[in-house]
Amino acid sequence: MEAGQAPRRNLTGSNQMGHGTDERWCVMSTPNGGFVDKILIRGGKPLNGAVHVRGAKNAALPLMAAVIMAEEPCTLHNVPCLHDVFTMDKLLSTMGMQIEFTGRYMTLQADGISEPYAPYDLVRKMRASFFVLGPLLARFGSAKVSLPGGCAIGTRPVDIHLKGLEALGASICIEDGYVVAKGPLNGANYALDFPSVGATENLMMAACRAKGVTRLTNVAREPEIEDLAYLLNTMGAQISGAGTDMITVVGVDSLGGAEHVVIPDRIEAGTFLVAGVATHGDVTVLNANPDHLPGFLDKLREAGAEVEAHGSRIRAAAPNGLRAVDVTTRPYPGFPTDLQAQTMTMLCRAEGVSHIKETVFENRFMQAAELVRMGADITLDGNTAIVRGVPRLSGAPVMASDLRASAALVIAGLMADQGATAIARVYHIDRGYEQIEERLAALGATIERVRN
Ligand code: UD1
Repeated sequence: MEAGQAPRRNLTGSNQMGHGTDERWCVMSTPNGGFVDKILIRGGKPLNGAVHVRGAKNAALPLMAAVIMAEEPCTLHNVPCLHDVFTMDKLLSTMGMQIEFTGRYMTLQADGISEPYAPYDLVRKMRASFFVLGPLLARFGSAKVSLPGGCAIGTRPVDIHLKGLEALGASICIEDGYVVAKGPLNGANYALDFPSVGATENLMMAACRAKGVTRLTNVAREPEIEDLAYLLNTMGAQISGAGTDMITVVGVDSLGGAEHVVIPDRIEAGTFLVAGVATHGDVTVLNANPDHLPGFLDKLREAGAEVEAHGSRIRAAAPNGLRAVDVTTRPYPGFPTDLQAQTMTMLCRAEGVSHIKETVFENRFMQAAELVRMGADITLDGNTAIVRGVPRLSGAPVMASDLRASAALVIAGLMADQGATAIARVYHIDRGYEQIEERLAALGATIERVRN
């Protein structure tokens, strides 16, 4: 999908400042807390040291949804303590699933779910809630799930999910903002219009209990999909091809329990590496998987960073600064859209002119206007951002608009060597980064969270 061509916008304008394993945290953190919190940063110091990467949010959420189909308890290890995980926990618990979440260890038992219904109030909070549709339909033969609605980074329709379920034999109608789906499901061949991550996951889960063989083509190849297939196969499913562009699922009559370790969060790993390089520091991420970051690590090298990967450790350093590079986001194994905002921030101080093209989402440059307020020189031309390197960024009060844009603003605050940065609406960052300020402080950042 190519994003639409918006008119050319020069964001720089006249205001350019170009020169100028803590369980306690899980219990104490509340989704509403972030509304009033701010993150304060006094930047200008290189980040140095090592940080452990947590389990992948985007893997954990569909894994939790998949357990809806299990007739025995399942255990997930390395589950991140994040607000999005709490939201999925609440949605599944409201349906009747029994969930115990202690530290990074979660047990889930689905036999208490009696009604295949996901209400608007919970689904609207997080788009990934829509992952329950496929498993509910597979287990109960019908499901009523609220449409997730739009979000800051685009309209994000679910047409591919629904067309795929129809191809599997479901009848689908939309009633009062809800998707009402009815089975039975039968194996079928279906080619996705776009390799949507969520649609691939929903359809792969639904196909596990469909009668016969399902062949899904043009599917997403993200590592989180392989992780989901791994759990489902451990539960007794028969899935092959996950990680390639064609997935085959042979339907089975029932799925049992399983124990599974969530893969490391490649986006979190990338965010810490960018933060290190952007501050001209030297950061190592531990418990990561370098194979999950192919397009991204190559781009850091092209920008002049030293990057070394050994086993589950990745080190990136840029003691002598960076040069401009061009970046185009693509589905995996291309450059991840979820690291675009952070990379744009890094390139704000790189020598030369970078072009960043966003092809996955139509409105994912929300961070640009805030970066300009910190002294960056960024022009938007449709789905391309032109970033001209400036010698320095300055601190400013800024507002987070979505999860990855908020990570980008934190990195900008760390880069700014004049003044302080105060980031509002940090609840966005708590959706996807665990204890971000403590972990950055351990790398040498001057950062704190304050309550208004
Ligand atoms: C997942 C990730 C998100 C990441 C995105 C792309 C999770 C929980 N979230 O989101 O962090 O940014 O993949 O890597 O895993 N689309 C349609 N119709 C559909 C489905 C998608 O047009 O039915 C479009 C979307 O609007 C978007 C593009 O396809 O423009 C990619 O979306 P998709 O891959 O589905 O992203 P998500 O699964 O929502």
